[in-house]
Amino acid sequence: MANIIDGKAVSAQVKEGIRQEVEKLKAKGIEIGLAVVIVGDDPASQVYVRNKEKACEAVGFNSYKYALPAETTEEELLALVDKLNNDDKVDGILVQLPLPKHLDDKMIINNIRPDKDVDAFHPVNVGKIMIGDYSFLPCTPAGVMELIKSTGTEVAGKECVVIGRSNIVGKPQAMLLLHENGTVTITHSKTKDLKEVCSRADILVAAVGRAKMVTADYIKEGAVVIDVGMNRDEEGKLCGDVDFEDCKEKAGYITPVPGGVGPMTIAMLMKNTLTAGLIHNS
Ligand code: GUN
Repeated sequence: MANIIDGKAVSAQVKEGIRQEVEKLKAKGIEIGLAVVIVGDDPASQVYVRNKEKACEAVGFNSYKYALPAETTEEELLALVDKLNNDDKVDGILVQLPLPKHLDDKMIINNIRPDKDVDAFHPVNVGKIMIGDYSFLPCTPAGVMELIKSTGTEVAGKECVVIGRSNIVGKPQAMLLLHENGTVTITHSKTKDLKEVCSRADILVAAVGRAKMVTADYIKEGAVVIDVGMNRDEEGKLCGDVDFEDCKEKAGYITPVPGGVGPMTIAMLMKNTLTAGLIHNS
């Protein structure tokens, strides 16, 4: 039976460290604020945004929520982003994605000030991650790195396979593993013999968005298996990209869904918001 990595516990530790720093800053009269913008009424986005607000409260940040109707125009959303860019109380700006179809995610992100882009989605921040010189962590990949670290596994020299090449997870994940000197392979829908490639991995990160796609025959005995997926199974139950029941005997370490990567993404967002606050008050 694999060791189950407790994302909630690791996330709680990270948030506690942030809370203590925030307390010290408050004693010096410094307050940190995160603005969260949500457009429309996608139920999953509403849950994510609520969790981000709760995390802000737990660590002691001020959170400013802007819930805009689905019909919001591009001009209106840009005007809000501009206002937040120029508001000194706001250290971080997060626009929850996906936006309704008539709004261009990329264009909106490009208009967030890079020093307030706590998602690290702005091309300036993405470029900095590429060259390994960055202040803002890509939240989900950085959360994955913390979970790997929590197992005591050294990344250097290990075979690391990432399934998925999204801009939000797959690509920055590969960079972070590379920065830690892993030997990294990014796989995707055109990869030949995916099973064979994955089964070479000492560290396997699944971020494809296909329910329970990774079965025991994809993994190496004793591997660290990190599941970024957030899907619904045939019964409508939340599940990852990894078939947990099938893999839990063979893996060395494995993350559950929920309770694995999810809580870490939010903890890393809090870390970025603290970083932004420190930059703005330095
Ligand atoms: N939608 C799903 N994940 C994320 C995230 O990490 N940040 C933002 N802004 N939107 C998301």
